[in-house]
Parts: sequence; C-alpha cells; structure tokens
Amino acid sequence: MTARTPLIAGNWKMNTTRASAVELARKVSVAAANAKHVDVLVCPPFPYLTPVRDALGTGGVALGAQNVYFEPPGAFTGEVAVEMLLDVGCRYVILGHSERRHVLGENDAVINRKVQASLAKGLDVILCVGELLQERQAGRTEAVLDAQMSGGLSGVSAEALAHVVLAYEPVWAIGTGVTASPEQADSAHAHLRKWLAGRYNPQVAQRMRILYGGSVKPDNAASLLGLPNVDGALVGGASLKADQFVPIIEAAVAVSGTER
Ligand code: PGA
Repeated sequence: MTARTPLIAGNWKMNTTRASAVELARKVSVAAANAKHVDVLVCPPFPYLTPVRDALGTGGVALGAQNVYFEPPGAFTGEVAVEMLLDVGCRYVILGHSERRHVLGENDAVINRKVQASLAKGLDVILCVGELLQERQAGRTEAVLDAQMSGGLSGVSAEALAHVVLAYEPVWAIGTGVTASPEQADSAHAHLRKWLAGRYNPQVAQRMRILYGGSVKPDNAASLLGLPNVDGALVGGASLKADQFVPIIEAAVAVSGTER
C-alpha cells in the first residue's frame, strides 16, 4: 500500500460562466467535505478564481490556476504573475498541459521557466506530460515522456519536488472519449517513477503523486484509480458537471484505503 494521498483535480479549461462556476464550486465543496483521505482541487479560468474561492469556503477543496507567467509583476500585457495567483488564494498551477503545448505553442524551455518561477515563490505545480498518437504508434512514448520530464524539471531540486504533482495525459485521450487502457496508463506511470528514481532518488519516486488524465469519467474512474502507480486524476470534461465529478471523487475515496 502506498502512502500517497490521491488527488482529484478538475481542469475547467476555458469553460463556465461566473454563475455556473460558483454553483459547481459549491457542489464540489459539499461533496469533498465527505471525501476522507482524498485531496480535491478545482482549476477555474482566471476571471472566476476569486468567486470560486469564495464559493469553496473552508470545505477543504484547493484552488488552482491553468497557467501563469514566469516574470515578476511588470509590463507583460495579458499575463498573470505567480504573486497574483498566490494573492487570490491559489495553491496550484497546471503547467505543460497538452493544449498549452500543442495549441498555444509552449515548449519545454518555457514550461520549465514557469515551473521554476512557481516553485521559487511557493506555488505547487501540476506538470503534465504525454505523447501524441503518432508518437505512441512509432514506439516513442517513453522517449517523449523522458524529454518532457528532463525539460520541464530542469534545475528543479529533489526538495522542490515535494511541491510537484505529475499528470500523465496521453494527448490522444484528451477530450476524445478514448481512455488509455489500465495497462497503458500503469506502464507509463511506472516509467515516470523509474525516471524519477534514476534522475533523483527512489524516495522521490515513491513519494511523487502521478495523476492520470484523458477522458476520465465516472464509469472508468475506479479501474484507473485502482492501479498501483495511479495517484489520482486530472479531469477535464467530466469536471464541469458535479454529477460526474463527484462520483470520480467517490471512486478515489473507495480505493484510497485499499491495497493497490
Ligand atoms: P478530458 O481532459 O478529461 O476532457 O479528456 C483532461 C485534461 O485535459 O486535463
């Protein structure tokens, strides 16, 4: 049995209105209050961070952002600083998401600067890695993950990794309804843990929470969350509806006390 507390994170992406965000946050907060031994996080769009924070209240659900800029506050039109996210109550930021990599053109060097700036100022990082379908088909999954890990975590110390959560998100499974099989997910997670043991040390590898992301739904959550190397989920589409997100939290509660 592992001592890693599962984390169920909702990535709301560029969705919700102020009213629907507040309503969703209230429902998640109520459900999470009963979720023993599971951490819950929601990541709304920037404009709704503050109303969502207020709606979450003291129910124990953490607040996260979906992006950040690496420079301190200053003349960077349209960007948001780490200090601002901390100021409005964020504990986490999602970095390296495939939509930032493949739609917005972020590379590992940019992602690494964001990782470093966040960790330096006390913002925890959810670092996403994952291969494209053609990379998997070409047998390059592990090489792609290795490159994203080396690039994203360049210069990050073993101590700082206590403030990092990894998310394995095969790009072909995001928003497509296609989920990685339990074998594919566990093998990628095991590979990431092996990488951490080699680059850092076995303790770091053992402690690291590695979430799975990509079309996680209530009906597949239990089989994914029960895998030995899967420590939670980064949920997109299904995090936008309480009646889908809450059962995923419950699935994590069900496996959190069991031998995996
Ligand atoms: P999905 O998104 O659950 O809608 O596939 C996951 C993610 O992009 O984090």
